[in-house]
Amino acid sequence: MDENSIAIIPAAHEATRSYDTEYRFRQDSDFWYLTGFPEPDAIAVIDPASKTPFTLYVRPRDPEMETWFGRRHGTEGAMKNFGADRAFPIDKFDADLAKLIDGHEKLYYRFAVDKSLDQKVLEYFNTQRVRRLKTAYPPHTIVDPTIILGEMRLHKNEEEVGMMQRAADIACEAHVLAMKKVKPGMNEFQVESLIEAYMRQKGASGVAYNSIVGGGDNATILHYVENNMPLKDGDLILIDAGAEYGGYASDITRTFPVNGKYSKAQREVYDVVLDVQEQCVEYTKTGNTVKARQEFSIELLTEGMRKLGLLKGNTKDLIRRKEYMKYYMHGVGHYLGLDVHDAGRYFTDQSAKNSKPFAPGMVLTVEPGLYIPPDDKSAPAKYRGIGIRIEDDVLVTKDGNHNLTSKVPKDPDEIEALMAKRKQ
Ligand code: GLY
Ligand code: MN
Ligand code: MN
Repeated sequence: MDENSIAIIPAAHEATRSYDTEYRFRQDSDFWYLTGFPEPDAIAVIDPASKTPFTLYVRPRDPEMETWFGRRHGTEGAMKNFGADRAFPIDKFDADLAKLIDGHEKLYYRFAVDKSLDQKVLEYFNTQRVRRLKTAYPPHTIVDPTIILGEMRLHKNEEEVGMMQRAADIACEAHVLAMKKVKPGMNEFQVESLIEAYMRQKGASGVAYNSIVGGGDNATILHYVENNMPLKDGDLILIDAGAEYGGYASDITRTFPVNGKYSKAQREVYDVVLDVQEQCVEYTKTGNTVKARQEFSIELLTEGMRKLGLLKGNTKDLIRRKEYMKYYMHGVGHYLGLDVHDAGRYFTDQSAKNSKPFAPGMVLTVEPGLYIPPDDKSAPAKYRGIGIRIEDDVLVTKDGNHNLTSKVPKDPDEIEALMAKRKQ
C-alpha cells in the first residue's frame, strides 16, 4: 500500500439457504488471509501510516445472541486473539467511515462484492464532494486491492504450504478409501458420503467445492454434481473431490473401474491422459509459463486423440482449428489456495498478453482429461461414453516441483492392485 492510503476489507456475510436457515458460514478468502478472523459481518481497516494501523469492526459480545447462534470474539477478542490495534462494534462503522477515509490520498476498496458497503462508500464520496472545501479532502484514487492481494496469495509461505499439504493428504486418503470400497451396485451418493465423511473425520472443515462423483457417461459431464446414479459393472467412475483445511483447498480427480479392472478400451484412453498428465506435472516448474503449459497439454492431447482415432488429420491443423475442444474443452489447471480457483493473475500485464512464469511457492493443479460423449457417432464405438480426468496439486519449488497429492495412486496397475484387495 502507498503511505498515505487506507484499505477497507469486508468479511463475508451469512447466506440464506432456505427461509430462515443459513449455509454453513465460509469466510471471505481475502479477509481470512489478512486477519484470520472467522466471524461474519466484520470489516478490517488498514491504515499503514497510523499509530493504529489495523482496526477491526466486529459483532459485539451479546449473551442472548451467543446462546442462540454461537460464541463471538467481540472487540476484546479481536484485539487479544487477532492482533487488532483497535476494535469497535460493527454498528459504529457507518458513523466512523468519513473520519477513517478523510485525508488519505488513496482508498483500497473492491467494489461490486458487498453491495451494501458499496453504497456507504459511494455515499461518502458524494457527501465529501460537496463538503471538501470545508473539511479534509476525500481520496483522489480508488484502487481495487484484488491485484495486490492476488499476488500475495499466489505465493504460498511455509505455513500455508503446510496447511495445503494437510488438505491434500486428507483428500488423498479419502480417494484411496473410495478405491477400496467402490463396487458395482453402489450408488454415487454412497461414494460421495464415504469421501466427505472421511474428510470431516480428519478435521477438514468440509469439501473445498461440491464433489463430482460420476459413473459411466456421467463422467463426460464436467460439473456433474447430482451424484445419484447406481454404479455399473464395466463402467468407470470419475471422482473429483477435495478437502478444505484451515481455509485451504485441495482438488483431486481420479478415474478408476467400478469393478476393479480397466477394460482394454478404457485403459487405452486412460494411458493417453495419464501420459499427458505426468508430462504436464513435470512441466509445472520455475520458468515455464501458464500459457505455454496449456499449449503443451493441447499438443500432447491432440496427438493422443489422433492415436486413438478420435481425430483424423495433421496435429497442427487440428490444433489450429481447435478440433481438440470436442474432447478436451477445459484448461489444464489453475492456481490453488484459499479458493479452489485461486486468486492471482495469469498474466503479467493488463493486456493479458504475457503469461506469468511459474515461481516457487505457487500451487497449481494439473488436470488434463478426455471426454467422449456417449452419442458421438464420429468416435470409435468402444470409446463412446468414456470420461477420464486425472488431477494433482503441484507446488512449484526452487529446483522443480513437489506433487502434494502423490499419495493417491494414478498408475492403472497400482489402482487395480489396490482394488484387488477389496473383499468381494
Ligand atoms: N474441481 C474443480 C476443478 O477441478 O477445477
Ligand atoms: Mn481443478
Ligand atoms: Mn477438480
